[in-house]
Amino acid sequence: MLLIFTLISFLISAVLCTCPTGTELGGASGLCYKPFPIRSTWYQGESTCVQNGGHLASERDVFTAAFLVGLADFPFNHTDFWLGGTTNFLGGMWSWPDFTNLTYINWAGGQPNNSLGYCLMQRAGDGKWISVDCTQQKPFICEYPQVQQQTCTCPTTPPCASTQPATQPSQNPCPNNNWVYSNNDDFSKCYYFNTSAINWNDSLVACQNLYNGATLVTIHSSAENDLITNVFRSKYPIPTASDSYYYWIWIGLRLIDPVNVVYQWVDNTALDYTNWGDNSPSGYTCVHFDPTLQDNGPYGQWIDAYCDYTDIGFTSNLGFICELQL
Ligand SMILES: *[C@@H]1O[C@H](CO)[C@@H](O)[C@H](O)[C@H]1NC(C)=O
Ligand SMILES: *[C@@H]1O[C@H](CO)[C@@H](O)[C@H](O)[C@H]1NC(C)=O
Ligand SMILES: *[C@@H]1O[C@H](CO)[C@@H](O)[C@H](O)[C@H]1NC(C)=O
Ligand SMILES: *[C@@H]1O[C@H](CO)[C@@H](O)[C@H](O)[C@H]1NC(C)=O
Ligand SMILES: *[C@@H]1O[C@H](CO)[C@@H](O)[C@H](O)[C@H]1NC(C)=O
Repeated sequence: MLLIFTLISFLISAVLCTCPTGTELGGASGLCYKPFPIRSTWYQGESTCVQNGGHLASERDVFTAAFLVGLADFPFNHTDFWLGGTTNFLGGMWSWPDFTNLTYINWAGGQPNNSLGYCLMQRAGDGKWISVDCTQQKPFICEYPQVQQQTCTCPTTPPCASTQPATQPSQNPCPNNNWVYSNNDDFSKCYYFNTSAINWNDSLVACQNLYNGATLVTIHSSAENDLITNVFRSKYPIPTASDSYYYWIWIGLRLIDPVNVVYQWVDNTALDYTNWGDNSPSGYTCVHFDPTLQDNGPYGQWIDAYCDYTDIGFTSNLGFICELQL
């Protein structure tokens, strides 16, 4: 009787962790995985995973590698697929989406290419890793932490955090993991993305208050413009054309001389690169960035317009990107 009572109270107080519906537990990692047989860029894949509380899968040991290759084989019909490795988050150095180094290594011969814009593809046949352009279209596997079962009645039990061993600290030198680090020949900076809708002035103040020395982002090369576009598109769901203005984001460029239509970065650095969209600049005061626009040109064009969209009847304002020079 006592034994049964003890057993029952143990069951009641046990943390009941389980994989989210539709995902499969990978024994070695303690994480949950789901293959998505939809050909997508790495950025779209990561965005899909993030929308559901996960990331593209990380492979930290040979058992997880074998498990994922097996999991993908049938749904992907022996097609190569994306994992979460990328050079984009640590500026030309490979990391998983949580900024940690690749510790277990499974590159094919001659790999990888460390250029920005390369992502980690797993070959279907032998499971070897190949670095390929992140904009290629491939199926992908998302990884999710286990969740606490709805039926659990014990508020004092710890949450079902990932049971994955913390093998190494994050490599991110930024103030915290809300910032993305990038370092290459052109720039060494941390970027902070926020889609809260505020006006340009308030965005500048928000950046300055976020961390000593931080400001609204300044962009000095096409590599930097691409990086910001791509990271934004991997962090946030890709909107449909009709709601794309929700994804316009302030950058630190504004008009300082209306007569001669001169724009200047908030940190007074040179305007040595521009990526104006059609009809811009036309003398409006504040500049935003469009990570979605592709109809009239590439992603990430700059548009000069109002400094506060509520002034012209919009119900919401824009998000913003801050930078911190290291
Ligand atoms: C899988 O690929 C093979 C070879 O390309 C093809 O013949 C077959 O129809 C594909 N099966 C499915 C379910 O897509
Ligand atoms: C991660 O990789 C970088 C570059 O190879 C190296 O400098 C750093 O020490 C590594 N960090 C860990 C924790 O292994
Ligand atoms: C790596 O990729 C870059 C950019 O596409 C390319 O210029 C370079 O030649 C590649 N390097 C190797 C070794 O393939
Ligand atoms: C985004 O910025 C707004 C306005 O400064 C702030 O209230 C909010 O906490 C920020 N969100 C995150 C996730 O940092
Ligand atoms: C932004 O601040 C400037 C002064 O710093 C002010 O002249 C301007 O009216 C403000 N704009 C908005 C939209 O608040």
